[in-house]
Amino acid sequence: MDIKVSERLEGIGEYYFSQKLREIEELNKQGKKIINLGIGSPDLPPHPEVVKVLQEEAAKPNVHAYQSYKGSPVLRNAMAAFYKKWYQADVNPDMEVLPLIGSKEGIMHICMTYLNKGDEALIPNPGYPTYSSAVKLAGGTCKEYALKEENNWEPDFKALEEIDLSKVKLMWINYPEMPTGKQASKELFERIVAFGKKHNILICHDNPYSFILNEQPISILSAEGAKEVALELNSLSKASNMAGWRVGMMIGAKERIEEVLRFKSNMDSGMFLPVQLAAAKALSLDKEWYDQLNGIYSERRKLVHQLLDVLQCKYDKAQVGMFVWAKIPSSYKDGYELSDEVLYDKNVFITPGGIFGSNGNGYIRISLCAKKEVLEEALERVTA
Ligand SMILES: Cc1ncc(COP(=O)(O)O)c(C=O)c1O
Repeated sequence: MDIKVSERLEGIGEYYFSQKLREIEELNKQGKKIINLGIGSPDLPPHPEVVKVLQEEAAKPNVHAYQSYKGSPVLRNAMAAFYKKWYQADVNPDMEVLPLIGSKEGIMHICMTYLNKGDEALIPNPGYPTYSSAVKLAGGTCKEYALKEENNWEPDFKALEEIDLSKVKLMWINYPEMPTGKQASKELFERIVAFGKKHNILICHDNPYSFILNEQPISILSAEGAKEVALELNSLSKASNMAGWRVGMMIGAKERIEEVLRFKSNMDSGMFLPVQLAAAKALSLDKEWYDQLNGIYSERRKLVHQLLDVLQCKYDKAQVGMFVWAKIPSSYKDGYELSDEVLYDKNVFITPGGIFGSNGNGYIRISLCAKKEVLEEALERVTA
């Protein structure tokens, strides 16, 4: 059949991981038993009470209908309460909260809501690859801004001011940053909010990692006047161990929520009510939940640090989030070379930093979503 894919898919490659996973599968078929330290999908279960709510609610006869596009009030209230409790942010549950089917879909929805052909969006390099795919799919153009170690992985505002910003409508930011593990300060958010106001750019902050190995979760809403110019995405995928459940949220001014809802309500028809009620339970968990989770991640991180020492990589111990980001020794051309060497010689897969953008070329990223025994085995293999 002679059918062409749409032009909007041109230049949107297959996600690096899906390609690499196929290669790993092939190697496994040859009996290699590859340890995959690439992907950030939590391996631990959600809190048992969360699963219990899902089970009990799903057994009821009257919970199976389509749900409101805006989400259940129970979930919206839980999201607003979560923002108050952890980020000290006042959010109106009826007007300033939008439950999402994962924050990845929110990235697409925001781009589809605001970008016309020719509009530009600022994208972090290195950063989560979905920002650039979503901008391109929506018809916009990506304008990368550099994040560099010597600049403490913060945007270089002087350089940003020097470029032509007249067509820039959105700026994607993500702190704690994936892949660099950099945490934002309130001052950094204030500078970004001021930058957005000055240039009339909608700041889109993606915040899924603020509870992982981090004692001070922070939201962009902590910056004065942020709601006038910023949206924030959050997610239950990482800190609630619910990646497969697909629950996220968008927080922002009433007008922005309504605008994004205009697009979103044409894409999906709400979320299964028992999932929403269980998500509300997850959002109400107290510090003990995050402490025990971080206890496990911090044990794992020690092993990852040892593994990186063996590979003679350098890393900052103050990183937060679900990965460790490390600079490779200068004997390697780039992270791809090191990653391939470790994959083919040691049967361990680690992510080359270059997939997150050219400024990640000299780095690799290791996920903490592997059990201690698996990391011990990886360490043994790499050391041998
Ligand atoms: C920076 C970043 N944002 C968003 C997501 C997507 O999260 P969700 O599962 O909520 O769609 C990820 C997942 O890997 C991520 O790393």
